[in-house]
Amino acid sequence: MTSFLSRFPRLGALLLALALPLAARADEGMWLPLLLKQLNEADMQQKGLKLTAEDIYSVNRGSLKDAVVQFGGGCTGEIISNEGLLLTNHHCGYGQIQQHSSVENDYLTKGYWAMTRGQELPNPGLTATFIVRMEDVTGQVLQGIPAGVAEAEREKTVLQRSAQVAQQAVQGTHYKAFVRPMFGGNEYYLFVTEVFEDIRLVGAPPESIGKFGGDTDNWAWPRHTGDFSLFRIYAGPDNKPAPYSKDNKPYQPRHSLPISLAGVQPGDFTLVFGFPGRTTEYLTSWGVDEIYAVSDPARVKVRDAKLRILNEDMQASDKVRIQYAAKYASLANYWKKWIGEMRGLKRLGATARKQQQETQFRAWVAAGDPTRKAAYGQILDQLEQQYRLVRPYVLARDYTTEAALGVELVAYANSLQNLVDLIQAKAPQPELATAVEKARRGTSNFFRNYSVSTDQKVAAALLPLYADGTPAELLPEYVQNLRRQHTTPAAWARFAAELYQRSRLTSDASAQRVLDELLKGNAQALLADPAYQLAAPIVATYRQKVLPAYSAAQDQITLLQRTYLAGLRQWQPERKFYPDANSTLRVAYGQVAGYQPADGVQYAYYTTLDGIMEKADPTNPEFQVPARLVELYNNKDYGPYAHNGTVPVAFTATNHTTGGNSGSPVINGRGELIGTNFDRNWEGTMSDIMYDPDRVRNITLDVRYMLFVVDKVAGAGHLVKEMKLVGLPGQPAETAPADKKIKKQKVKVKREKAAVAQ
Ligand code: ARG
Ligand code: GLU
Repeated sequence: MTSFLSRFPRLGALLLALALPLAARADEGMWLPLLLKQLNEADMQQKGLKLTAEDIYSVNRGSLKDAVVQFGGGCTGEIISNEGLLLTNHHCGYGQIQQHSSVENDYLTKGYWAMTRGQELPNPGLTATFIVRMEDVTGQVLQGIPAGVAEAEREKTVLQRSAQVAQQAVQGTHYKAFVRPMFGGNEYYLFVTEVFEDIRLVGAPPESIGKFGGDTDNWAWPRHTGDFSLFRIYAGPDNKPAPYSKDNKPYQPRHSLPISLAGVQPGDFTLVFGFPGRTTEYLTSWGVDEIYAVSDPARVKVRDAKLRILNEDMQASDKVRIQYAAKYASLANYWKKWIGEMRGLKRLGATARKQQQETQFRAWVAAGDPTRKAAYGQILDQLEQQYRLVRPYVLARDYTTEAALGVELVAYANSLQNLVDLIQAKAPQPELATAVEKARRGTSNFFRNYSVSTDQKVAAALLPLYADGTPAELLPEYVQNLRRQHTTPAAWARFAAELYQRSRLTSDASAQRVLDELLKGNAQALLADPAYQLAAPIVATYRQKVLPAYSAAQDQITLLQRTYLAGLRQWQPERKFYPDANSTLRVAYGQVAGYQPADGVQYAYYTTLDGIMEKADPTNPEFQVPARLVELYNNKDYGPYAHNGTVPVAFTATNHTTGGNSGSPVINGRGELIGTNFDRNWEGTMSDIMYDPDRVRNITLDVRYMLFVVDKVAGAGHLVKEMKLVGLPGQPAETAPADKKIKKQKVKVKREKAAVAQ
């Protein structure tokens, strides 16, 4: 091929141009709000946005961004009333709802609704973070750092400068600030935030609504989960953040989102405003292959085994079922996501696509001047080499964290290592006593949700996976010997049986007695325990043999990847690049659309209450339907929230989202709330690595189902009164500025509808 092209250089250029599938694909992207004007405004308006970039993000006046918060550390929430009412997902508020629950007042099962402000429940530790402003501070952070400096050195300087910039930005204010790298560290952005800390639980539907479909429907479409909960932000007398006080007042936001009852149609513009956590869209083929062929399969294999055992024991015992419910849900969540991710990457031919891109990149470098060749001539070969180097350490990392530490006894034994360290370092008694006290509490908490017979089965299944999956030279001697001695599942089962029989770390009572000994300075009590004897070398080997080499290679990859990304941007000056997600505020936009999950199958873009009734199964705890909902359904008592004789529940759209976008407002072209993001479709989970406009869909809870549940199911209409509803049926939607594009869009929608009907 190369020689053919070199004979026809012009043809080569033409072919390259045609082959470039690389311009950001329709609706791909998690954009920085600050750059919308420059990069996206025209495109967004062409797709149906009736607002300006300034309406979405402005520092000087209230804008949509003032209604968006990071909820806790890992979710998003939006403000939906002038009195600080906050909407997020049920699974985002889950921990708080659980905290307030007891056997007598089981809010998980029954739901919770504050009928007065006095009944709104405080949640120590929970925060809601607004973004006050953001700024490109690349110049200040990178100034004077010489090219070619070692990565660790660069990182140190960057951290120092970032801290300085952040501190200067908020001096004399109550704001907080941090600096985050973008584009792999080619750029740095400052974020100034306002963090509220008195956030109260206002309402949550029962799990039979908020978690309807459970793990079975997780990541799945068609979906019928009423995944929302309501909180309220409280502020001090000056409307500024204040620690919890009964005298705090509901926060008065700079902006709260009006809620549209007008519903959605295929092709409608949608915008998701939130805090996506992590994506890696600019990997090379070797980076994609590492995920596809190494990490995902290893992690899935281990979790497969563990989940099967947990599931068996949970089915057999109610006690175990309750003890392991949360652990199971969190293991199953990413287990399922990784399976979808592998299938999606395979289906896309992701590795081959990246290889094609790399071939084109090499051609561009080869055609360039000496500066270009010097900057990028080696980069891909170097990346390939580092990925080859790091691979055994990636396996060791994944098998150690998922399989070895996936055995709870091993993880627990390892958690006591710091006590041994303190004793051996002859730490002063008070320091040891404090640490033991902390371990005592941790121990009691741990054993409350622990089934020793279940964990023993997990050990018998996971230890051999760890021993066989980790490259032999990265296993501790101890485990290498075990591996030689135990070559059948029965042998590992006997090993586990003996381990759990001899260890004292298998119940709260006996573990507390070990802690009694440690408190007296007797480390032997732990050192002699077979569970510790297994855990200690595993973790020590990981620290000594795996982590240093892993981090060194990973540092190299970070550095090279930064250069490669700079090269990509230089190669494609016309292409709009967005930085990978890093838990900072982003805008994704797209349109309402169904999809084809497989050949011969077409999914509609929305689901309804009728589908909840179809899925209802009184024998299955994941598919219970509360009596009140059945009653409303039977009476068709839907209030103003109905559409075509039923209540819309969820819809799909092409917005590019990821973990952290849970709870994000989904907004229409007029800036009104139409739903709350809560999941992604299984066929689209590879979008963290590669987006596919045909298959990637975010899943949104329709606001009308949320309102219906609050008003009709819960009887909490006083909350709906706080909100600003627009576009009620029979009443025209708030008129938007006349726009010729509207007509064009309608035609497009008609065409799409016709396509769906076919
Ligand atoms: N998949 C959704 C998100 O990631 C929801 C997870 C919670 N729900 C559950 N059934 N585990 O990450
Ligand atoms: N449920 C996810 C979250 O908690 C969102 C789904 C996704 O990864 O797109 O953020």
